[in-house]
Amino acid sequence: MTAIDHDFVQPPRSEGGTLDWLRTLPRKLAGVDKSDERTIPASPPIDATPLLLEELAPPSFSRSAGSDPETDGARPLSMGAMAQPLKPISLRRDSIYAAFNTAMPVTDRHGLTGRNAELEKLVESIVVQRKHAVIFGTRGSGKTSLARVFGDLADEAGCVALYGSANGETDFETLFRPFLAELPMSAAGKEKARALLSGSFDVPRLASLLVEDVRQRSILIIDEYDRVHSEAPRQDVAALMKLLTDLHSPVQLVLVGIASDIDGLIAAHPSLRRHIAPQRVNPIPTPELARLLLSCSDRASLSIDLEALDMLANAAMGSPYHARLFGMQAALIPEAAGRTRITPADVEAGLIAALEGWTDMSAITHGHLARALRDAPHNRRMIALAAVVASQSYAISQDLLVQAGAELFGPSDRLHGEAADALARLAPALAPTSGGQSWMFEDTLAPQFLLLMAKQPAPSTIAPNRTEEMRAMLKGVDGL
Ligand SMILES: Nc1ncnc2c1ncn2[C@@H]1O[C@H](COP(=O)(O)OP(=O)(O)O)[C@@H](O)[C@H]1O
Ligand SMILES: [Mg+2]
Repeated sequence: MTAIDHDFVQPPRSEGGTLDWLRTLPRKLAGVDKSDERTIPASPPIDATPLLLEELAPPSFSRSAGSDPETDGARPLSMGAMAQPLKPISLRRDSIYAAFNTAMPVTDRHGLTGRNAELEKLVESIVVQRKHAVIFGTRGSGKTSLARVFGDLADEAGCVALYGSANGETDFETLFRPFLAELPMSAAGKEKARALLSGSFDVPRLASLLVEDVRQRSILIIDEYDRVHSEAPRQDVAALMKLLTDLHSPVQLVLVGIASDIDGLIAAHPSLRRHIAPQRVNPIPTPELARLLLSCSDRASLSIDLEALDMLANAAMGSPYHARLFGMQAALIPEAAGRTRITPADVEAGLIAALEGWTDMSAITHGHLARALRDAPHNRRMIALAAVVASQSYAISQDLLVQAGAELFGPSDRLHGEAADALARLAPALAPTSGGQSWMFEDTLAPQFLLLMAKQPAPSTIAPNRTEEMRAMLKGVDGL
């Protein structure tokens, strides 16, 4: 499959990411003068100078007089660092980030866990039945991974799959212009395409090119389509789909984006709707997620307890993104302790670390969810259930909550009130779905974190160890 190279395509994300800060360290000062940081040894040779964490100490903690930073790089810089044993940064950490990577979509079909049914359906409806398709789901559910692996299968089936991704400002022309240069066209078609590339075009003009001049079955995959907010390009895309179908064009469109249903991405007239295959990116079954986590751990050269595996796969609630994130955080715990097995206690600590990371990134949503839990201690189970239902069916409604509540907690008259209360408390973090009948978490990554929050004991305002520390600080103050 060809990925369209244009500013309309997402900028490549940093692969390792987490070791990027190392690159900003002055190498000589850090006592390591190698040009390639990926060669930092996991356990440095006896006489090698380890990369010392205290090199990050602020300048005010300066070296003792007379020491020469050029020759004496391994000497501790800060008081705090002197008190603690210093840890070399190991390559294993790097391999954990690589193995559990949450930033890169899967591009190899063998790396795509639990998606055979979806792939088969996409091939059947797009390649065989020649329909357009809409691939929808939450952030991190694996839409891009599915679309990219499908693109490769389509290539193998003799089609030309072209992949691009939209951004918020996109209008109809900027959405399609990047594909024009890549489409398999006759010489006359290429000439026409060049005219379109430099000038403006509308739906009929583009449709006529795609119908008359494209020489091979082609599939245009437009990822991040949810970022196209304006109505005009959305309507133009729907009109184009209709024209392409009516005129038997060899070109089909696949729209990919965050939504709970097809209507969230395209307002399709019923006559078009039957030519579009809706492909929901379903939660991945827990045993498949466990298999994914096992292979990630394996690649990071770590083993994992069965119970730990179970805890991680369950906490991810069907999301490959969360499975990888939670797995990575859990794996970093034994790594830091010099162990090679992930235990249930590591998972507990890893989940807390993952939640903290998300809290830092999504403070507003976290605030809404924390408030809902804090203000409704009597209704925590329904708030937690809302998280579970959202992770499984994306959209939540009072009826869905009551139904799930009856199944899980047993039928009760109180369920309607509890469901209404939970939805009202979560409302600031929810957005209505396209039909307005139900709600999605505005941050579609939130449900897994909400469940983690609901499982934590109600937090006291100040963590106990800080209380002690603060008491020590206040020692000697009058009246204490
Ligand atoms: N079926 C899968 N098997 C294994 N990992 C997956 C799968 N689907 C997605 N992932 C991983 O989950 C993360 C999010 O996937 P991505 O395709 O980018 O999701 P989305 O496009 O829905 O936001 C990535 O790290 C990706 O590698
Ligand atoms: Mg994506």
